[in-house]
Amino acid sequence: MYMNFWYPVAASDEVTNTKPLRVSILCLNFVAFRDSNGVAHVLSDTCIHRGGALGEGKIKGDCVECPYHGWQYAGDGECTLIPSLGSTEKPPARAKVDSYPVEEKYGIVFAFLGDPPEAERPPLWTIEEYDAPDWRPNKLVVFEVDYYYERSIENALDPAHNEFVHPKQGTPGMMLDFRKTPIEMEAIGAWGSGFMIPFTLKAPDKGLLKETRSDAPEIVKAGSGYFGPNAVVTWLHFTAVNKFHQYFFEAPIDENRTRIFFINMRHFMMDPKMDQRIVDINMEIAQEDIDVVSKLNPIRTPESTTKELLVPSDEPVVHYRAALKIWENLGWRLDMKKIRELRGDVAFAIPSPDRRTRKNWVLDEVPRV
Ligand code: FES
Ligand SMILES: [Fe+2]
Repeated sequence: MYMNFWYPVAASDEVTNTKPLRVSILCLNFVAFRDSNGVAHVLSDTCIHRGGALGEGKIKGDCVECPYHGWQYAGDGECTLIPSLGSTEKPPARAKVDSYPVEEKYGIVFAFLGDPPEAERPPLWTIEEYDAPDWRPNKLVVFEVDYYYERSIENALDPAHNEFVHPKQGTPGMMLDFRKTPIEMEAIGAWGSGFMIPFTLKAPDKGLLKETRSDAPEIVKAGSGYFGPNAVVTWLHFTAVNKFHQYFFEAPIDENRTRIFFINMRHFMMDPKMDQRIVDINMEIAQEDIDVVSKLNPIRTPESTTKELLVPSDEPVVHYRAALKIWENLGWRLDMKKIRELRGDVAFAIPSPDRRTRKNWVLDEVPRV
């Protein structure tokens, strides 16, 4: 797991100014709430007084109030009130929690979980076609799976699983010998990479793809790509017009569970009446992936590729792992062994950008490799 990327925290309508929302990401807890202007904030959940869970507290004006002794924190993480000191005494400089940059897009509240200043941050992935008139997004779908997020991303990057995991949907099947025709990865900005390759379409038994195929050629193009450690897209082009682009923004809750925010973009069947049907079919396909990926052994990707036998169709997975290695070498990978060992004894926080300019923080920074 990596800090210094954008993580989906919650659907926009889950974040309110009436009740704080407590969310776990990267094995840590966060609180999300809105101030009286409707602006969303994401803070470290741990009250620096004696460890209260801010997400279990209340919203008071523009602040979140700890349920234990009523300390109040504003959206910038500053403690504005310590009731037991009396209402006139200013809280000390150390009385602050980490507050993270927030962007709200596609009906999702995203937080940048890390400390670089704005100019140095990897960007949030832009869905270029999101507002285009010839594309239609589905309503956001949020679901949780019982597996590690890197297994989930790697599954989406894997072109060889479709015809075995999704045969009844008539999804694209393998055509290429990946050894003779290696998969070529192309950059997606500075933080991602993807591929498009021709596939054959097998006749589906049922489902949506049957309808979309009326004018489909024998060969379709499909592919996928990652952006940062935790976002992935699947591109399905049945014809020049009949296209799906499926975006998944993933939040590792911990090492065994992942929350996935799924946005399906389509370039055909624009009738809003089709929305629910498309969600249903996509979730049926997702369930086929879930059934397989939740049984993988080991739960997390092995540290060494000698403990797997990779073949040319695994090239996108290898590429993704190489990108993770680059981010690890930048010091962005969380040291899970240490975190596991100290959990229960130490409360950690992902360092926020304020830590670069201000000293004197109560919580330790999360250990990195
Ligand atoms: S623990 Fe939060 S106010 Fe005491
Ligand atoms: Fe799949």
